[in-house]
Amino acid sequence: MIFGRVKPLDAILATAEKKSLHRSLGAFQLTMLGIGAVIGTGIFVLTAEAAQKAGPGMMISFIIAGVVCAIAALCYAEMASMVPVSGSAYTYSYAVMGELIAWMVGWALILEYAVAAGAVSVGWSGYMVGYIEHAFAIDISDHLTRGPFDGGMVNLPAIIISLLVTALLVRGTKESATVNSILVAIKIVALIAFIALTVPVMRMEQFEPFAPLGVSGISAAAASIFFAYVGFDAVSTAAEETKNPQRNMPIGLIGSLGICTIFYLLVSAGVIGTEGAQPVYGANGEILEPGSRELAAQCSAISDQAVVCSKEALAWVLREIGWPQIGNLVGLAAILALPSVILMMMFGQTRVFFVMSRDGLLPQFFSKIHPRYNTPHVITILTGVFVALFAGFFPVGQLANISNSGTLFAFMAVSVAVLVLRRTDPGRHRPFRTPAVMIFAPLSVLGCLYLFFSLDEKSKLLFAGWALIGLIVYFTYSRNRSYVGRGIIDVHEDDADTPPQPVPPLPGIHTPGGKDA
Ligand code: ALA
Repeated sequence: MIFGRVKPLDAILATAEKKSLHRSLGAFQLTMLGIGAVIGTGIFVLTAEAAQKAGPGMMISFIIAGVVCAIAALCYAEMASMVPVSGSAYTYSYAVMGELIAWMVGWALILEYAVAAGAVSVGWSGYMVGYIEHAFAIDISDHLTRGPFDGGMVNLPAIIISLLVTALLVRGTKESATVNSILVAIKIVALIAFIALTVPVMRMEQFEPFAPLGVSGISAAAASIFFAYVGFDAVSTAAEETKNPQRNMPIGLIGSLGICTIFYLLVSAGVIGTEGAQPVYGANGEILEPGSRELAAQCSAISDQAVVCSKEALAWVLREIGWPQIGNLVGLAAILALPSVILMMMFGQTRVFFVMSRDGLLPQFFSKIHPRYNTPHVITILTGVFVALFAGFFPVGQLANISNSGTLFAFMAVSVAVLVLRRTDPGRHRPFRTPAVMIFAPLSVLGCLYLFFSLDEKSKLLFAGWALIGLIVYFTYSRNRSYVGRGIIDVHEDDADTPPQPVPPLPGIHTPGGKDA
């Protein structure tokens, strides 16, 4: 029963064939796509949280998280190139491990995408507030710019940006390649400026003690900083549009992850080497959790004079070392670039909801298409409201950790699916094959498990609670309504921005409400 109700791969591929995109992306464009999707709140904001958990040892955390992501990316790419359709990990799991696992993966992807969009909105808010305060020399009250766990009441700027992005998505904005290139350039220039101004003036004594909270601190920071790499699946899902995927996919994936890792290491070295990155302890020397009321109070007691207290770490460091204007410009770069990460995360979320609803597992009205804008507006607005609530009331690090728990579960499922499919369907055409799959797929599962169990207790508990709710919803609602469960296997247009079209049924495949072929 656990592995029952598999959606035939051929039906899924028939959907993909309808889309049949032009193969135009080369290794360079793929790498840019990856960097555009990946660089965001992780490096701009969570560096401070990682410092609170690991001190200077966060450099090792960046390497660990980058390696786990690179290995998982290789597995992801095989599935993405073979099954290039919407819904990513959810769809792959449906085809390989059946409906229940697919449902759980889709349910976990809600954590990945929607909660991540909330986290990036909070990160954006930190930079926006810092920029206004410094550029116009005013002081904005924490009450309206931070959530209740973070020394405030509600994070209004985070709510506003998430609702603005929702409005854009309802109107049907998709980021164009040109806008993406400009935003990638802005992010890269900002990080290069940061590195150029900080690395030459590093002092080696700032790296001592290197790991004040030991190996467990480094692991905990790796589990959080994993967020900084999330988004590379954008590269995998472009497999269908890639020229010579067997060569260009690994270059694009490993290339973008490699470049991001180098940036992250240099930026974190710059932060540590100039201003130091030792954790702030409680009055009795106790360890304080990032995003906790206790840490907010302790930071306030030292007038926020530590990088771990900053909501805009990179801008803060530049101001502290005597480059206030450049600090403001780096802040401006984050303000301009982060909304595109929110947009991509929310877009990913609406896609997953759309496909799950189209499969009958979520209510049909979720996949309703707006008559004028041609977008799945119902689900977009619903997603936007939840993202705004997360963003308004929770701290960025907690949201990032919860999002990571869902992402790690989805990556694990995909790595297992790759192995299973190699066994059950060895002859199928694979535009990209994971190299040494018998080594990398199990390693990917182990790496994801290690990071998952290094997350804080709250996030793991929340994940377990979320999974339980998912099971209840599945068995009380979705299972009976599933198309696959009712023997209806539909073939759809793939694009969530186009209303479903009637399509000619494939031999042996039924369309919902239609006649058997
Ligand atoms: N990797 C993305 C970020 O750091 C999600 O914002």
